[in-house]
Amino acid sequence: MLKKAYPYYLANQPQQPNTDLAVLDKYSGKLATRVAVPDAKAVEKAITAAVKATTPMRNFKPWARQAVLQHCAQRFTERRDELAEALCIEAGKPIKDSTGEVTRLIEMFQIAAEEAVRINGETLNLELASRLDGYHGYTKRVPLGPVSFITPFNFPLNLVAHKVAPAIAAGCPFVLKPAEKTPIGALIIGEVLAETDLPKGAFSILTLDGKHAAPLVEDERFKLLSFTGGQVGWELKARAGRKKVVLELGGNAACIVDADQGAHLDRVIERLVFGAFYQSGQSCIGVQRIYAHADVYDALKRKLVAATKKLKAGDPKKKDVFLGPMIDEAAAERLHDWITEAKKAGGRILCGGKRNGNMLEATLMEDVPSDAKANRQEAFGPFALLAPFRKFSDAIAMVNDSDFGLQAGIFTDSLDHAMRAWNELEQGGVIVNDIPSFRVDNMPYGGIKLSGLGREGVRYAIEDMTEVRLMVMRES
Ligand code: SIN
Repeated sequence: MLKKAYPYYLANQPQQPNTDLAVLDKYSGKLATRVAVPDAKAVEKAITAAVKATTPMRNFKPWARQAVLQHCAQRFTERRDELAEALCIEAGKPIKDSTGEVTRLIEMFQIAAEEAVRINGETLNLELASRLDGYHGYTKRVPLGPVSFITPFNFPLNLVAHKVAPAIAAGCPFVLKPAEKTPIGALIIGEVLAETDLPKGAFSILTLDGKHAAPLVEDERFKLLSFTGGQVGWELKARAGRKKVVLELGGNAACIVDADQGAHLDRVIERLVFGAFYQSGQSCIGVQRIYAHADVYDALKRKLVAATKKLKAGDPKKKDVFLGPMIDEAAAERLHDWITEAKKAGGRILCGGKRNGNMLEATLMEDVPSDAKANRQEAFGPFALLAPFRKFSDAIAMVNDSDFGLQAGIFTDSLDHAMRAWNELEQGGVIVNDIPSFRVDNMPYGGIKLSGLGREGVRYAIEDMTEVRLMVMRES
């Protein structure tokens, strides 16, 4: 059960001046709860508090940061069911996926707790010539200072955790703006953080809309902006001034099924169905483009269509439902329009294709022209296309014929093909014998091309949120 209303967090404290933001149950469309919204003064106060917290956070010892992160992991474990239910309601995420996301949230904080006490430096040999005798170099990593975060609707817990947990481990005060459509996950994280002894001002969680979040992007007191979302991220980068910017902006992930996969098709199909349709395809690494060798194409298509047709759609709160709603009707309508456009351009719908409000059927197509939006842009919904290839080099070229490059998958028994995929696919990550949707939260995760800039994954995020400080010592 959600509470009737939720506060936002300003300098570690809950604030409930109003209940201006309505959060809907994405399946029923009914009001689920209401949330307080900060005004411009509160935004300024949050930034000032974060600046003031810079030194206390830097001096907050690694063991103390670790204890905060361990406390969070423990409390999320105790509140697992409540968190999963909140996610299921506010995001329309099937309960199985919601529970899985809570597991990842807990793991994220556990990983960050471990990393908090292993932020190390180097010893440098500076004695390169006799004139440098007695000189020694040492580095350590120091926190950047205040950082700002903007997170999307599709993983209201885990993509918040990917920013918040490394910031605490690194010793950076932060101001976070969660997605307006799904703020509850972040606010429950705030409730748990407020139980800890983090220095005052270490965190603010502000339920702002995009317009009022401009200071998080533009204010020079922030030393880093980490944004996960759509292509608007590039505009934010242009406005971000001198601060570091990390962008995770999605993709149209591809998966190759090699000629030798005939004997493993059942396993391949189970993973492709999951990758294309989990949480209604609303994942940056959801399978969107499937390229299968001509030798296995027909069998794969037949089995994939049969498996897709079996997926149960409906109320995400029901345990047997695999496919819930999309985040809103506009999102479902947009993808439905792309499917219609692809069909008009010669594409064939193999299954699905119909929409009812924000429920879009799990849809598979083939013969989709390469310039169709459903092929070139990020579908971010329950949609995948299939195409055959003959030569392995063609499959590589088909995957690379994209403006995006986040993760790709390849099913193959050939070590040579696995290595070629790793070498030649223009991606942030290549997953061999699984789908591009595979992610463990300590992996480096991020893309090239329009998919973004920089890497998340706890250790990599901590590197971004800290900088090297050198000390040179001369023997006296
Ligand atoms: C994303 O959609 O960007 C994140 C995917 C994941 O964490 O599994």
